[in-house]
Amino acid sequence: MAEATKKAFVTGHPIKHSRSPKIHGHWLARYGIDGSYQAIDVAPQDFAEFLKTLQASGYLGGNVTIPHKEAAFALIERRDEAAQQIGAVNTLWLEGGQLWGGNTDSHGFAANLDDHAPGWASIGPAVVLGAGGASRAVIHALKQRGIRDIRIVNRTLARAVELRDRFGAGVSAHGMAATGELLADAGLLINTTALGMQGNEGLAADPALLPDHAIVTDIVYVPLETPLLAAASARKLKTVDGLGMLLNQAVPGFERWFGVRPQVTPELRALVEADLAPKP
Ligand code: ATR
Repeated sequence: MAEATKKAFVTGHPIKHSRSPKIHGHWLARYGIDGSYQAIDVAPQDFAEFLKTLQASGYLGGNVTIPHKEAAFALIERRDEAAQQIGAVNTLWLEGGQLWGGNTDSHGFAANLDDHAPGWASIGPAVVLGAGGASRAVIHALKQRGIRDIRIVNRTLARAVELRDRFGAGVSAHGMAATGELLADAGLLINTTALGMQGNEGLAADPALLPDHAIVTDIVYVPLETPLLAAASARKLKTVDGLGMLLNQAVPGFERWFGVRPQVTPELRALVEADLAPKP
């Protein structure tokens, strides 16, 4: 079979559990594009060399995932505004002979809430649990959407303070002990920590402490219904799971490489959802 004319990739280490090939493969077929999207395992020590050979290998660009997001940020020639703010890159493309890096996690987060909880950005203060890389993408989205009271809560206070200083006005930093008080008048609760992920069954905060109109979302999507979302549903709060963030973060990259802005449909969601069940 002849090689596809438009080539993109996802690289990480390990990479075999990535759902991105499923997402992009679905869209390539759906839109009838002569393209490919391949998973490539690159060890950290080989990542810089991998980037140098992209153009010669015929790639238009690709996605970057754990553990290469910060290295990609440091190594690329040009960055978009989101990548600059977040300090990490998840999408690469060649433009005018230069290697560009962007961050679409922030877009994915906001688009997921737009799809499932319209009006989310005007519902009041946001409490963000966690202060890692994922938290930075979420805070960027919250600021972009004009949320003026963003409360970061983290086990290690110093990391929350670092993010407060990074994002500036409207962002405050807190230790876990303050959670109850911070939730009492919050409109939005977002978990960005690994708590609630399969094998890490803790509850990052108690949704019972939120007001009735609050929305609760988790960026963890395995399991789809995390303990936090289950507790929020039991309390009859509006919940949004994290799968839509994964699907929506893929949209801008696909459009850049393949020239079509793809749709996040129930069909795509079902396809990826079926793949979330643990493999033997
Ligand atoms: P990511 O890039 O996915 O956000 P990370 O940078 O490792 O990953 O950040 C993980 C986040 O989950 C951090 O906020 C971490 O808290 P610390 O900064 O105190 O380490 C949080 N986290 C992980 N496990 C946790 C646990 N058991 N309890 C509370 N917070 C936890």
